[in-house]
Amino acid sequence: MSFPTARPRRLRRTETLRRMVRETVVTKNDLIYPLFVAHGKGIKKEISAMPGNYNWSTDTVLYEVEEMLKLGVRSTILFGLPETKDEIGSGAYHSHGIVQEAIRAIKSRFPELYVVTDVCMCEYTSHGHCGIIKGDTVDNDPTLDLLARTAISHAEAGADMVAPSDMMDGRVAAIREGLDKHGFTDLPIMSYSAKYASAYYGPFRVAADSAPAFGDRKTYQMDPGNGREALRETELDILEGADIVMVKPALAYMDIIWRVKEAFDLPVACYNVSGEFAMVKAAAANGWIDERRTVMETMTSFKRAGADIIITYHAKDVARWLDEDR
Ligand code: PBG
Ligand code: ZN
Repeated sequence: MSFPTARPRRLRRTETLRRMVRETVVTKNDLIYPLFVAHGKGIKKEISAMPGNYNWSTDTVLYEVEEMLKLGVRSTILFGLPETKDEIGSGAYHSHGIVQEAIRAIKSRFPELYVVTDVCMCEYTSHGHCGIIKGDTVDNDPTLDLLARTAISHAEAGADMVAPSDMMDGRVAAIREGLDKHGFTDLPIMSYSAKYASAYYGPFRVAADSAPAFGDRKTYQMDPGNGREALRETELDILEGADIVMVKPALAYMDIIWRVKEAFDLPVACYNVSGEFAMVKAAAANGWIDERRTVMETMTSFKRAGADIIITYHAKDVARWLDEDR
């Protein structure tokens, strides 16, 4: 059948009809909202280049969690800013570290919030790298034990899921083994499987004070030119026991989201990172784009590309817009 019998415009004539035939929808269930917790009391410090996102202390973060839950955003991923940093990132796996304390504070007040934790060393090391330094490089294997210890300490504090973001080889296996040995056999791992060495992490590194003091992350994070390698990374993580796989960043890597979704049968998450968020916010503040329409279009596109889960700094706004859009 072809024109004039076929007329695709017939199904675009009214909003009701368009909704009826829409293939992809975003729901609040898809969203994870990142939170940054720091030491101290009464802190609510806006993050530069991330308007509407703050560094919280373990007391004030409860107000933000309350608002999330009111809006219907039921899951967070936690990042921590420790009081002090050292060569071996001991704040990452200390039983009373900042993330561990934040989990306890949140869970004692809002046990219904689903708490994912980012497992990495870079916020806790004085050199800002995601692992232990040996000479001028990040030493893979000794880092694994510390990542496992970090994940276990998060689980012991009450985390619901752990998400390793360091890109060391073998970390999923090490974390799975560590969790299982400590009785957390049912705690899922969401692995940042295909994480690229990206300039889009800029605002986050200010927020988490985690920029590397020397060099860059290109010896462990992936080269942006590589697509097939993402499949290999993801396959290895699945073989090591990942329950959910992730592509990061999201916007410039939608082809990777699609390929990962086609190749594997696990849920796929994407991370709509800080630089992607900052670009939208800056353009919207200038009146150059319509923020609501741009964000909703982008979220829909992540899902169309194959993402089941979207980690995004827009989550609260998206929830609000979904409520308004009846
Ligand atoms: C830590 C980590 C980073 C992000 C999430 N976990 C930064 C990095 O790898 O440098 C980036 C998140 C964002 O930009 O929103 N490894
Ligand atoms: Zn890191």
